[in-house]
Amino acid sequence: MTSTMQTASGERIEELQQMAGEHLFMHAAQTNDWRGSLKIFEKGEGVWVEDIEGNRYLDAMGGLWYKSAGYGRREIADAMYQQLLAIESPPAGSATVSQIELSAKVSELYPDHGARVFFVSGGSEAVETAVKMAKKHRALNGNAGAFKVISRRNSYHGGTAMAVSLGRNSAADPMGPEMPGAIHVANWNSYRLPYAGDPVDVAIKCANEFETAIIHNDPSTVAAMIAEPVSAAAGIQIPPAEYWQRLREIADKYDVVLIADEVITGFGRTGEYFAPSNWDVQPDITTVAKALTSGYAPLGAAIATKKIADSFVGGPNETFKHLITFGGHPVAAAAALANLEIFERENLVGNSRRMGDYLFDQLQRLYDHKSVGDVRGGLGLLAAVELVQDRESKTPFPTDAGLAKKLPKLLDERKIVSFRAGDVIALCPPLSITPDEVDFIVSALDDTLTALEADLGIS
Ligand SMILES: Cc1ncc(COP(=O)(O)O)c(C=O)c1O
Repeated sequence: MTSTMQTASGERIEELQQMAGEHLFMHAAQTNDWRGSLKIFEKGEGVWVEDIEGNRYLDAMGGLWYKSAGYGRREIADAMYQQLLAIESPPAGSATVSQIELSAKVSELYPDHGARVFFVSGGSEAVETAVKMAKKHRALNGNAGAFKVISRRNSYHGGTAMAVSLGRNSAADPMGPEMPGAIHVANWNSYRLPYAGDPVDVAIKCANEFETAIIHNDPSTVAAMIAEPVSAAAGIQIPPAEYWQRLREIADKYDVVLIADEVITGFGRTGEYFAPSNWDVQPDITTVAKALTSGYAPLGAAIATKKIADSFVGGPNETFKHLITFGGHPVAAAAALANLEIFERENLVGNSRRMGDYLFDQLQRLYDHKSVGDVRGGLGLLAAVELVQDRESKTPFPTDAGLAKKLPKLLDERKIVSFRAGDVIALCPPLSITPDEVDFIVSALDDTLTALEADLGIS
């Protein structure tokens, strides 16, 4: 690793732990769970990170689902610095070259090259933007009463109030009544099918729940339907092609705006720049964030197809009255441009496909462990291993088996960075990963499961 930072002294580490313990809010984490033992990282290169004590880990989660170009890309840092030297942010009502070029680059990569891009600061804002855009689009096209939004239970669309209403997920505090007009249907689950039957038929049945909800709620009042192409919140759930194809048909039939929430899957994670391309589907609006800059700067976007975007070109009435002060910050835009240049030069999307296939293939050997119920993946570099107490009945481990505490510790001992590993171990490594690094992850998981099963008395 090239950083010039020195490993901190024991005294300094103690001081930092104390400051964090007293003053830092870690997101969605219980202070008592990390106080005194917070992981503090100082260096990163490729898929590897080094903590303040000099321990080296492979980040199998790519930050929080975003480190697609990997750590330590100097050219991204240089591009950000150059933007700061030129002009760090433009006067009100104007733009920088980086913002304009990025909008054109994103549209070039997007299947609809006539797309228009609304930049924001992250995924939740992208979702808020997409939903507002969908509602106003419907209003501008003769449906001023269309305010309802259909989403899936146990999904995740962000931490802001409206996004939480859409996600209906225990990972976020609900904080009182949901957004008026939030309607929920079943999420897709390939391991525990929501209905009995052939998976493709069940997927179509799940998609049809959107249609039932539209009919029951009066189609003229429904603005949008939103879903993640691959749901990470539901444990890396990859639907058959027919699921999104059916969503597209339903949206067309009722003139409802179809939003693909690609905050995790956008920019190559599934082996295509945009996940619905795997199924030949074009959504109306796509939300992106994380991998757009590979986490080098906070940036998100709602990408509107030309059809949607053109509704907003006209007079004062058509103006999209939506403003986020730091949305599309020029320094973040410069980071994104440099990041996407790396994507193209190194063919990271192709590597996502190739290494995703290799990872999925290698993970199959984990079925030798009795606790492994399901291995999911095979659509780019997003995979999951689901553990169960009983493979036949798919019975989960009881909470008092302590997986949520034991697994992160065992993975940590084997130098793997994980996130919320428990019944499901999710994998989302940088797209630049090599076969040797995939092997490192899989053998660490193998060892981890051997140790876990010994601890739980499984033989
Ligand atoms: C699918 C999806 N949508 C939206 C969000 C919210 O993004 P952010 O945390 O950047 O606000 C996330 C975050 O993980 C996400 O996974």
